[in-house]
Amino acid sequence: MKLIPIAAIANNNVIGQNNKLLWHMPADLKRFKETTMGHTMIMGRKTFESIGKALPGRKTIVITRNKDYSAEGCEVVSDLKEAICKVKSESNVYVVGGGEIYRQVLNLHYTRRMFITRVYANFEGDAFFPEINPEKWELIEREEHEPDDRNPYPYAFLTYKRKC
Ligand SMILES: NC(=O)c1ccc[n+]([C@@H]2O[C@H](COP(=O)([O-])OP(=O)(O)OC[C@H]3O[C@@H](n4cnc5c(N)ncnc54)[C@H](OP(=O)(O)O)[C@@H]3O)[C@@H](O)[C@H]2O)c1
Repeated sequence: MKLIPIAAIANNNVIGQNNKLLWHMPADLKRFKETTMGHTMIMGRKTFESIGKALPGRKTIVITRNKDYSAEGCEVVSDLKEAICKVKSESNVYVVGGGEIYRQVLNLHYTRRMFITRVYANFEGDAFFPEINPEKWELIEREEHEPDDRNPYPYAFLTYKRKC
């Protein structure tokens, strides 16, 4: 089983503010949908509330310490270990945020690749992706894009592989 973090990250590693995304980039949403479709997604409770519903075509596991929490159409677990137990037999499982969850999965041995959309702009925010350490992560794919009439910022689709 592989855990694959997937995230859209500003230059300054900001991923959100006030439990919302800070940009509207349909190209990134399309890539996210194509990549995660048919797979299981693991997310933190705040990210689930930010999306507001279970996304179709994908199993969603929501992590919360609140034992009474329920999320329609999702499985709710009380820690990351329990989430991992539930997906052991699957091949690729996507970790879709937010900052707290990314921080906890980045150093796990299950996490050997990650899909990053780098949005080339700076934003003020309160949720961050961890700094990607080039000594630990090798950039193996890079697809650069100019802004266009639907995507207001330049961006790149990046794939990182753990070095060791
Ligand atoms: N740009 C992107 O790609 C992207 C992707 C996803 C999210 N986001 C943004 O990121 C922000 C949300 O991130 P966040 O860091 O604030 O929150 P988060 O990681 O989505 O959720 C945090 C919550 O998850 C639960 N949790 C975390 N670790 C846990 C553990 N080990 N055991 C049990 N429960 C655990 C806790 O829920 P309880 O408090 O209920 O216990 C915690 O409050 C939003 O702004 C969102 O829009 C951006």
